[in-house]
Parts: sequence; structure tokens; C-alpha cells
Amino acid sequence: MQRGNLAYQVASFNTQVLTMNPLSTVGLLCAVYFLILRRLGFRKWFRLPNLSVSFPCDLIGDRQIADFSFAGATNLRYRLELRAMPNTRLIRAFQLNNSFTTNDVQVHRDFLKKASQAIRLIRTDNWVKLGTITQTSLDSCLKHFKDGLPYNHSDHEEVMRVVSFSVMLNVLFGVDPSAINLDEARKATDAINRLWVQSKDKDSIPSLYDQTVLNNALEILLPAEYPCEASTNPLNLIMPAYETLWRVVLLTFVSIAYQADDPKTIEELREAVRNVPQCLYQGGDPESKALAIAKEGLRLYPPTKRIYRARLCVSPNGEKGPVAADVEGWHRDSRVWGDAAGVFDPQRFHPRGHERDRENTVVAPTDDIQPTPAIPYYQRIGYFPFGVGRHMCPAAAGFGERIITLLVVELTRRLGDRQTGLKINFNNLKLQKASCTLLPSGRSDMENWVLELRDTRHPDA
Ligand code: HEM
Repeated sequence: MQRGNLAYQVASFNTQVLTMNPLSTVGLLCAVYFLILRRLGFRKWFRLPNLSVSFPCDLIGDRQIADFSFAGATNLRYRLELRAMPNTRLIRAFQLNNSFTTNDVQVHRDFLKKASQAIRLIRTDNWVKLGTITQTSLDSCLKHFKDGLPYNHSDHEEVMRVVSFSVMLNVLFGVDPSAINLDEARKATDAINRLWVQSKDKDSIPSLYDQTVLNNALEILLPAEYPCEASTNPLNLIMPAYETLWRVVLLTFVSIAYQADDPKTIEELREAVRNVPQCLYQGGDPESKALAIAKEGLRLYPPTKRIYRARLCVSPNGEKGPVAADVEGWHRDSRVWGDAAGVFDPQRFHPRGHERDRENTVVAPTDDIQPTPAIPYYQRIGYFPFGVGRHMCPAAAGFGERIITLLVVELTRRLGDRQTGLKINFNNLKLQKASCTLLPSGRSDMENWVLELRDTRHPDA
């Protein structure tokens, strides 16, 4: 349609709608002007992507699931309902009463406020202190858990779970990690793991034994939080914080400290070991480059692989279950990230872009070729580890990437990297031989990974 025709149609349309009720007239006019401006090329005003390049349209669809707009859900209570329905398994397994499981607007608001306040570590000295706390926790765990395994070996997954758990108990409840009963922490994390697996199977009833073990362990670890009610149950905070953390930290650490063989990626880690935690909340290049490690970990191993919402109606194929935005799928999609989508490469997230792209960008910007190419735009929208829109995670504001970076760096400081003698036995021949390959990230995939402990403290520590 040509612009001249459009102007004529707008004029005759105006005459017709003036005879209608004033409220519907205003609404209708706004909608029509919006559509017309879009056609006339005012995309920029509305932040619309240029869809003329071959665009993965499902990506928009998945973002609309994550931000609830697929259901036109502008009302908070309705959004909570759409999220809570697929999460009833978390009520059955853990009796959670938080933003993920409630329909109650006030419960959601109170919980969100509490969670946001708990993770508001916005000063460098908070992070320096947390670095020391992580080292204390790591030392005690490594000493405590080498039992039963031949000379100085440790179950890598168990250490990661208990260290992440202890650090989060400090952040959320102020618990001193040197005073944590590690056997109880191990019991709690094991029980959480088993209950989580059970909750995924809709036909299974969560084990009463595991629930009792978990509650008893938490009462010993957090005596000040008990007795509690559904809304003050410490698990409400522990689950979204700890459960999102331990696997992404473990997989990021293994990817960069053990698997990486590109000298630039190895140097990224060394630089981070020199700068973290002192650079955190200082801004500038050292911090941005250190955080790029966490960003890349969250890309390849997003803790929330899929964001589920209740389905509005049965699909044409008869599907009744929830709909899901495939976070992990988009984070690994080669249409968005290029051929090396599966390679762990923190440089993608460097403040001034990837060196490779800077070298290849020989075209000077002109009026029609803007300096921002299409691919980085897709990457911006194809990356959503903390969700999309109004219900984005409060940890997206700074805590999430910083805590992952801090834990990965403190692990490297204590255990070293492959070049300084770190040895991880995957108990899987294919994985042992491969380098720079995607690691399996299912809940039970890391169970047999064993850490060989020698004193491999990092030279830059
Ligand atoms: C790296 C760590 C984390 C990741 C990747 C992550 C991921 C996410 C995602 C994907 C959502 C959106 C869920 C949805 O749309 O339904 C979310 C929401 C939320 N997360 Fe996190 N999370 C992390 C850490 C935390 C921590 C430490 C806390 C603090 C206890 C937390 C508390 C919350 C809360 C309260 C919401 C609900 C926000 C709302 O509904 O407005 N998360 N998180």
C-alpha cells in the first residue's frame, strides 16, 4: 500500500469514527494510528526489529510466552496464575509459598521485596567479604568430603552443591560458613536433589522421608528461622537462589578452567583471578570482562532451561500440558550465535564486542549500513537467562552474574586450572577425551565427576 492511499484512508476513517461513542473512538484511533505509523516506517519509535532479514520468528513467540503477552496477561493476578499452575509440583515437593507458586498478589509482592533486599550486595567490600567466606567454605568442604574416595579425591558435584548452599545461607540468612554443620548441609542438598527429581514425575508422590530429612537438616542449620509458617519457610528463598546457582557454577568452572584450550579464553580466566573480587561493583573493563565469564556460562548452561506457563486451551494436536519458552534452545541456536554456538567463549560478551567481529568489520558505517549488525540484535533478544519483561529475576540487576563469577574465580584460586594441574575425572571416556565440547547438564549427569585434589593453588592467586 502506498503512503498517499494511506493518508486518504486515514481521513475517511476519521470521519466515520467521529460518529461513534467517544471512548471507543479514542481507543480505535490509537490502534489504527499505531498500525499506520508502523507501516510508514516508524519502527524505531516502537523498538520493532527489522523482520525482513531471515528471522527466527519462534524466538518472538518464546519471548511472548516468557513475558506473558502470549495470553494478553496485563493483570498481575492472571500472570501469577499462569506461572503458578505449572509449578504446583513445587508445592507438593517443598511446600513452597513464594512468587513461583502463589496466585496471591500480596504474597508475591512481599516475597519479591524480601528476595530483592536479601541479594542487594551493591558495595565492593560486600563482595570481598563474600570471597573470603567462599574460600573458608571451600576449604572446609574439601577437607570434609574426601572420605571414602581413594587418596585426596572429592565428589565434584557434592562439593559444588554444599559450597553454593553454604554461601547462599550466608547471603540470605547471615549464617557463618565456618560454623555450618557440613553433614547436615550435605543431607539437605541431597534431599533437595532427590525431591526435585521426584517432583518432575507427575505420577510420583514426593518421599515423606526426604521431606523429613530436609526439614530436620534446615532446623539444625537455621535455628533462628524455626518454627515457621508457609510464608516464612526458609525454603521459599533457598530454592530460587541455591537451585539456580550450583549447576551453572560447576559447568562454567569446568568449561573455562578445565576444558578451554584457546589461549585467549585461558587468559580471560587468569585476568579474572587477578581482578575479582576487588573489581566487583567498580564498573569499567576489568569488571565487565570478568562478568563475561558468567554471561557465557548462563548462555550455555541456563539454570532455567525452559520457562513454563499454563496453556490457555488444548492445542490442535491435543496437547494439554503447559507451554514453554525454550531458553536453552535459543542460547545454543546457531542462527543466533553463529557456527561456534556450542563453544564456551566469554569474548562474545566483551564490552566492545568480540575481537573476531571487530577485525572482520571492514565496512564503514553509512546511512543504510548501521554499525550494529543484525546478529548482535538477535543475540540481545535471543539471550534471556533471567526471564523477560515485568517478571524478570531480581538477580538480573547485578547479583546473579557477580555471584557466579565470584564462585568460579574462588574455585580456580583454590583448585587451579588444567594448566596448573587441575584434574577432573568424568568417568566417561568420550567426555574425558573431548575438549571445548558442550557438557551434559542434566541433573544426574555430573554425579560421577571426581576432582583429584592436589595443591594446585593458582599462581595468580
Ligand atoms: C544465576 C542465578 C539466577 C537465575 C539464572 C535466575 C533465573 C530466573 C528466571 C528465569 C526468572 C523468571 C521466572 C519467570 O518468568 O517465571 C526468575 C525470577 C525470579 N527469581 Fe531468579 N534466578 C537466579 C537467582 C535468583 C536469586 C539469587 C534469587 C533470590 C532469592 C531469585 C529470586 C527470583 C524471584 C523472586 C523471581 C520472581 C520475580 C517476579 O516474578 O517478579 N533468583 N529467576
